[in-house]
Order: sequence, then structure tokens, then C-alpha cells
Amino acid sequence: MTVKEIVKEHGNKRENLLQILHDIQNQNPDNYICEKAICELSKEMNIPVSGIKGTASFYTMFSFTPRGKYIIRVCESPPCHILGAQTIFEAIELKLGIEVGETTDDGLFTLEGTSCLGVCGVAPAMMINEEVYGNLDKEKISKILSLIQNKERK
Ligand code: FES
Repeated sequence: MTVKEIVKEHGNKRENLLQILHDIQNQNPDNYICEKAICELSKEMNIPVSGIKGTASFYTMFSFTPRGKYIIRVCESPPCHILGAQTIFEAIELKLGIEVGETTDDGLFTLEGTSCLGVCGVAPAMMINEEVYGNLDKEKISKILSLIQNKERK
């Protein structure tokens, strides 16, 4: 879908901007909002480029740089932090050989931190794309990531 078509689908009112940005990002195979899309969106919605960037950069789920097919977001808010978010980061970093903000060489995974995912009852938690995982420990992390890696290698 083109930016024009996405805007048409939602309507070009400013209140629809976040959903439109989501759709633009989701349809990009590299999981980000490119400069060209922002310029087109600016014209279609009559919002300055700086206004779009300002809005999008407020939310951690949007990116202006290419990312992996799977975005891993580890919750860093206090309940998850207390219950071991740092251990979760370390387990992922060890398994994938990347640090926060980086993407694996095969383009599969990008690791990010995020604020509360709304599932504090199963802390520590993370999201991989739209899927939420809770009660995490090193073994569970390893299994989840291996499953995805195996699926992608088929
Ligand atoms: S604090 Fe981590 S899910 Fe709420």
C-alpha cells in the first residue's frame, strides 16, 4: 500500500496519525518509517515533517532507522526491573550477540527496551512484534528465540 492509500483508508485527520504511522511502519519490511514516507505523509495530511517526526519520536515503538523482522521489546519499568529485566536483557544479548538498539547480522532481531507493557502480573515481560511473553527466565528466552530462528531457517 502507498502512503496515499493508507491515509485514504484512515482519513487524513490528525487524530488518525498514530494509526497511519503504525501501518506505514508495519508494511515496511525493515520495520521503520523512512524519510520518503514521512515527506509523503506530510503532504497527504498537511502536517509539517517536523510535526510528524516530533509525534513519532515520542513513542518508542516507532523507528526512523531500519530494524529486524522481529522487534524484541523488554519491559524496563519498575515491576519488571525488580523481577529481573536486566537478566532478560543479558540472556537475549548472549543468545543473539547483540546489545540494546542493535540488529542481528541476519536481519532477524532488533533488541529494544520499553516501558510497561501492561502485563505486570507476569513480570518480567517482553514483546516480540505483537506477541507478549511473561514470567521470563533465561531458559524460556532461549526456547522462544530458538523457535523463531528455526521457523525462519526452514
Ligand atoms: S512493568 Fe513490565 S509489564 Fe508492567
